[in-house]
Amino acid sequence: MPLVTSTEMFKKAYEGGYAIGAFNVNNMEIIQGITEAAKEERAPLILQVSAGARKYAKHVYLMKLIEAALIDTDLPIVVHLDHGEDFEICKACIDGGFTSVMIDGSKHSFEDNIKLTRQVVEYAHDRGVVVEGELGRLAGIEDDINVSAEDASYTRPDQVEEFVERTGVDSLAIAIGTSHGAYKFKGEPKLRFDILEEVGRRLPGFPIVLHGASSVIPEFVDMINKYGGQMPGAQGVPEDMLRKAASMAVCKINIDSDLRLAMTATIRKHFAEKPGDFDPRQYLKPAREAIKELVRHKIVHVLGCNNKI
Ligand code: G3H
Ligand code: 13P
Ligand code: ZN
Repeated sequence: MPLVTSTEMFKKAYEGGYAIGAFNVNNMEIIQGITEAAKEERAPLILQVSAGARKYAKHVYLMKLIEAALIDTDLPIVVHLDHGEDFEICKACIDGGFTSVMIDGSKHSFEDNIKLTRQVVEYAHDRGVVVEGELGRLAGIEDDINVSAEDASYTRPDQVEEFVERTGVDSLAIAIGTSHGAYKFKGEPKLRFDILEEVGRRLPGFPIVLHGASSVIPEFVDMINKYGGQMPGAQGVPEDMLRKAASMAVCKINIDSDLRLAMTATIRKHFAEKPGDFDPRQYLKPAREAIKELVRHKIVHVLGCNNKI
């Protein structure tokens, strides 16, 4: 099956009250772990690539690995640019075969965000590619950009109709209190479901995207701490909140940190138990397996997108 866009996936997810998992990929083991779980659970899939991932692995390697996964699994897969910061990177990904891009204009003024997003939409739609925009700003760390809690801002529901109408975006990421990385809340986790509800009311049937949606699974944080790491206070979004978001207008849930934690915890454990090992296959194999089981868990128990193809 060739790469697909997210249009049909989101339509079905919206109607079915579930969400599609958008997993960040950086290398072969991560791609294999994710796609093997999705194949076994018959789940549609979004594989997303950040600017940092493109720099690390090179566009062509990631593209060819994803093509290999398509041949291996025959799954409907979207390849998506995560947090494109300008027109040039979106254009490069569209020209380079991605079927979806995010233009993240959330750091700009409302008018400049609209202008930039509209420019990407025009280029993308002419080439059959879909576009995710962002309104409101998440806290946390992505690549080299660290957005402090003070600079983060919730999405204003009164702006979403105008933004969607004037830009022509196909989906919209909103800020309701999640953040990127492994330290999402100090104290009790709280999300602004009232904002999500109001956005859903104003944009009926329109797919909403939730970034910063890792649960920072305690089992992996504990393993990292046990085997020499230091992640005190790490905390993510509780799974029941993600399930609630998926039953509302959220059709795409972004997960990166949980994959990193699963991989790192497994590798730390491996070396604690086998300090003399120096064969990368010996530690990457259990890491890939941990990613696979994590993604299976997300698909079946959090996203609800199993058996949807
Ligand atoms: O939203 C950001 C993702 O977690 C990607 O992180 O930019 O370090 O690859 P990265
Ligand atoms: P996490 O850091 O919560 O995994 O969020 C990832 C993300 O939003 C990628 O765009
Ligand atoms: Zn994000």
